[in-house]
Amino acid sequence: MFVIRASHILCIVFCSQSFASLGTFWHITDLHWDPTYTVTDNPEGVCASNGARPVTNAGKFGHYLCDSPWDLINSSIHAMKDILPDPDFIVWTGDDTPHVPNEQLGVEAVVSIIGNITQIIKQVFPDTKVYSALGNHDYHPKSQLPPGPNSIYEQTTQLWQDWLEPESLHTFRAGGFYTERLLNRTGFRVLVLNTNLYYDQNNHTKNMDDPAGQFSWADEILTAAASNNEKVYIVGHVPPGFFEKKRHKPWFRPNFNRRYLDLVQRHHAVIAGQFFGHHHTDTFRMFKDSKGSPISVMFLTPGVTPWKTTLPGVADGANNPGIRVFEYDTSSLLVKDMVTYYLNLTHANVARARWEKEYRLTEAFQVPDASAASMHRVLERMATDHCHLQRYYDYNSVSYDLSPCNQACRADHVCSIREVDFDRYEICVKEEDAPSKGHALTPLLLSTALGLLVAFF
Ligand SMILES: *[C@@H]1O[C@H](CO)[C@@H](O)[C@H](O)[C@H]1NC(C)=O
Ligand SMILES: *[C@@H]1O[C@H](CO)[C@@H](O)[C@H](O)[C@H]1NC(C)=O
Ligand SMILES: *[C@@H]1O[C@H](CO)[C@@H](O)[C@H](O)[C@H]1NC(C)=O
Ligand SMILES: *[C@@H]1O[C@H](CO)[C@@H](O)[C@H](O)[C@H]1NC(C)=O
Ligand SMILES: *[C@@H]1O[C@H](CO)[C@@H](O)[C@H](O)[C@H]1NC(C)=O
Ligand SMILES: [Zn+2]
Ligand SMILES: [Zn+2]
Repeated sequence: MFVIRASHILCIVFCSQSFASLGTFWHITDLHWDPTYTVTDNPEGVCASNGARPVTNAGKFGHYLCDSPWDLINSSIHAMKDILPDPDFIVWTGDDTPHVPNEQLGVEAVVSIIGNITQIIKQVFPDTKVYSALGNHDYHPKSQLPPGPNSIYEQTTQLWQDWLEPESLHTFRAGGFYTERLLNRTGFRVLVLNTNLYYDQNNHTKNMDDPAGQFSWADEILTAAASNNEKVYIVGHVPPGFFEKKRHKPWFRPNFNRRYLDLVQRHHAVIAGQFFGHHHTDTFRMFKDSKGSPISVMFLTPGVTPWKTTLPGVADGANNPGIRVFEYDTSSLLVKDMVTYYLNLTHANVARARWEKEYRLTEAFQVPDASAASMHRVLERMATDHCHLQRYYDYNSVSYDLSPCNQACRADHVCSIREVDFDRYEICVKEEDAPSKGHALTPLLLSTALGLLVAFF
């Protein structure tokens, strides 16, 4: 009797965490539906999103040179329902239209595509709350999202109004962003940003300090969150920092990148997670304080579209379709784990659409959770241990590109994860790409050690 009581007391003191309840949510992004996708033997006739590359062996669920056919969109949403039918909520971070020239779309086509994907999510998850962000492809002309009201924000507000609280409507119409309490619970909040305003391709915001006043608005919301003891998730499409598959390739304009970093540094105590898309790859970004200690992490979830990017300088930039479950502590919003599921597109086209678990973060990288400290450990192990780097690299393309990640590849990935700041990234790639770093180090150290052994014995 006494023993049981004592162990109970011990447990209350030492394992209070195990009493916290675990919540789950889906994160999906970059579905990029291509309505022209057709299975045909004509290599020019398969899809408009091929970027003038001939498409051979097209299958029902898509092709690595094309955006998603409807069968892939449908399959991904139904896979979510099969795998985890009752998540607490869904995070959906945009990019619904195909990679085709502006002339092949138009306001009506863009809104109708957003409408179709909204509709299937609502059909399959009629009772699930969805936090939905606009991507740079959810506008016409693409990436030109304005810092003020317009017909696309208005029509999207209509499409998403069942998912939005009344207080979100005003800012969403005016700037494509909103905030509300997470699941209407006291102490928890979500901030859905329109970071397309910071994209360097967006001509509207070129000479602005704070497009749509979103930075000062976010600063106010996060300041209020701190005084109300809230924890916050930030959701958006275009991330700050660099693309890990192309050296020196940022998305934000420099002033906006600095300001975003500053926002996170000031408010990291209330920010429990950041969830973004746009890369179509599986990676993450570390945020640090002025002393270099990890304070926050941004998770980039892979896309559903398998489309091989046409960005010059990226070799073989396709991916398998991916979807992701996050597990979180419902009392602190701490991200405890993430599980990525994927469709082997090659297999799907020859056999059937089988969505499989790709990996669970804590198993694959041997960390206790997905906190900033844990993700920092994942990063530093990647930087020093080739096995960890290669594992991360295989997952980066959702098990599409399984080629070895060499020294230049290592510097690209490690530095883009480690440094969101533009100047610090440049310093990092200079250091990490130096011949004395990385793989070159191991044989050197080994031979020195062997030499010492020989000398001593
Ligand atoms: C969507 O996928 C589900 C599950 O695989 C399937 O039963 C259904 O027939 C598909 N619908 C369409 C329109 O393809
Ligand atoms: C997309 O939505 C339009 C209405 O806007 C509808 O006519 C069409 O059938 C939908 N397509 C699919 C594949 O759901
Ligand atoms: C959210 O909670 C408040 C009370 O805290 C309540 O008045 C409101 O109706 C709730 N909204 C929804 C959509 O449940
Ligand atoms: C944006 O500006 C650039 C440079 O001035 C121009 O080449 C491009 O066509 C503009 N894009 C749009 C969509 O207006
Ligand atoms: C995907 O499927 C193809 C065809 O079945 C197979 O050759 C390949 O190894 C699979 N890829 C992975 C990562 O399992
Ligand atoms: Zn995209
Ligand atoms: Zn995008």
